[in-house]
Amino acid sequence: MISAFVGDAPAKIILFGEHAVVYGQPAIAAPVTSLRVYASASENSLGYLRVIANELGSVYTITQSEKLSEKPLETICQLTLRHFNRPIPAVDLKLTSEIPIASGLGSGAAISAALARALAGAIGESLSDDVLNTLVYEVEKIHHGTPSGIDNTVIVYEQPIRYVRDEPIQRITLNHPFHFVIADTGIHAPTYLSVGDVRKLMDKSPETTRNLIEKIGSITDYALEALKSADISTVGRLMTENHRLLQSLTVSSPELDHLTDTALKSGAFGAKLSGGGRGGNMIALVESDSVESMKATLKSAGAYRVMDMTLGNDS
Ligand code: PMV
Repeated sequence: MISAFVGDAPAKIILFGEHAVVYGQPAIAAPVTSLRVYASASENSLGYLRVIANELGSVYTITQSEKLSEKPLETICQLTLRHFNRPIPAVDLKLTSEIPIASGLGSGAAISAALARALAGAIGESLSDDVLNTLVYEVEKIHHGTPSGIDNTVIVYEQPIRYVRDEPIQRITLNHPFHFVIADTGIHAPTYLSVGDVRKLMDKSPETTRNLIEKIGSITDYALEALKSADISTVGRLMTENHRLLQSLTVSSPELDHLTDTALKSGAFGAKLSGGGRGGNMIALVESDSVESMKATLKSAGAYRVMDMTLGNDS
């Protein structure tokens, strides 16, 4: 018996610690709950499973197979069915995504999480967040090669987190609002390329690279204290310092630097790239009454698209 079911998942931003997190340093990330992927499941008359991804212009067909597919959208479905020990159902999973791909917002992990939730719901099962996190991580390996696991974790649990590879996640509660403007360079930059280049830098100049990565880790630890104590100007200063270290790791780009410099010149507390870098998105921390003007400033400085989000509540 197949049920109509909708699964969804949010985008994410990394506030501190991207790239360093791959090497065991802490990172801080938060879901972007207003930007989501939806997967709607319905019964079909074909006798097999399809994933219909109109935005990607693709339809994936999943039939019974011993072998795990190397296509992420197929793999997550196979892993979900294997987890419940269930055969391929006659189901269509239609994807609708508001998250731009290859932009540092975690679209890959969000698509996997939404598909797995929808498929499990359609066959009358329910996935715990812990199991879903493990399944999505498996698929992240196809996207990224050596993912730290931060994307799947923040997206599946949909909470701000401090994340250290192979350690239990630490959920963060903020009792003060932090207003971020998120600006997209419009440049698609696959994460595995920038992660691979940091790896090459590590092989070529291990001491310098390790030093940069450890500095990012210390900044992340200071930033967590500043976030908890609502010290906005320190959070902002540390974001900008983090961006400078990411530049030294070669993962920024002229477009990301231009948007972060513009945000800083226009009064942001701090600004940095967010995610894999080389393209994708940057974030700026601003006063609540500067959100709209900062969005306009970044748009006229060439941002492809801008949005805002608030993290934390008034205590
Ligand atoms: O998927 P992205 O582009 O948001 O990057 C994830 C963060 C990295 O630290 C660059 C990679 C990782 O696996 O943690």
